[in-house]
Amino acid sequence: MQVEDRWQSAKDAAHYADARFSGAQADRDLQLVTRLIERFDGGRATRSILDVPAGTGRLHDGLAHLSKLVCGVDVSPAMLERSAYRRASRGLVADARALPFRDGAFDVVVSCRLLHHLEEAQLTEVVAELLRVSDRLVVASFWDAACWTETRKRLGLRVRTDARRAISRQRLALLVERAGGRVLGHASSFRFFSPQTFVALR
Ligand SMILES: C[S@@+](CC[C@H](N)C(=O)[O-])C[C@H]1O[C@@H](n2cnc3c(N)ncnc32)[C@H](O)[C@@H]1O
Repeated sequence: MQVEDRWQSAKDAAHYADARFSGAQADRDLQLVTRLIERFDGGRATRSILDVPAGTGRLHDGLAHLSKLVCGVDVSPAMLERSAYRRASRGLVADARALPFRDGAFDVVVSCRLLHHLEEAQLTEVVAELLRVSDRLVVASFWDAACWTETRKRLGLRVRTDARRAISRQRLALLVERAGGRVLGHASSFRFFSPQTFVALR
């Protein structure tokens, strides 16, 4: 199944909105996103943020604290339908590989939990699009190849079956450079133990 087809059903969207995240995990992504925005774009008013993929709008309320204008884009109407972006008429169904915005349309672009689902060609396209539509900063999460789970895989030890595609910081940096951007810094909950890492790009 293609990644863009994976969250298309109302059932999947309901599960994602109601059960996928709970407890401390629910806020962790937002905390890391906020930390990187404050670190690399702090001290300036953030006029607009794009959240892509918006999913069911998990990050909406937190991002709305940082900027008056927050928009969400997702390829799944079912996911978006459950989000505050849709309720606020700020949600758009579109593909992250071809965003319907002009260059530099948003001060900040946030992309949480998408890159590790993409094949190489898609990853290249999405990173280029995130950079293209951002004026000042991109904050994106990826599955860090230098983490405990991936180390276990490399050692041939048993791990939970997982379709996520890990990427090394070096490879990601190269890809970003090829798209005309550069890496500013990283943030993760527990380096090495948390596979998901956030990167700030410009
Ligand atoms: C794991 S969810 C993450 C949603 C949200 N960012 C979050 O952290 O809760 C992945 C989302 O990516 C969306 N998606 C997959 N491929 C996409 C694409 N090419 N363009 C836009 N959205 C896409 C899916 O529909 C799904 O909502």
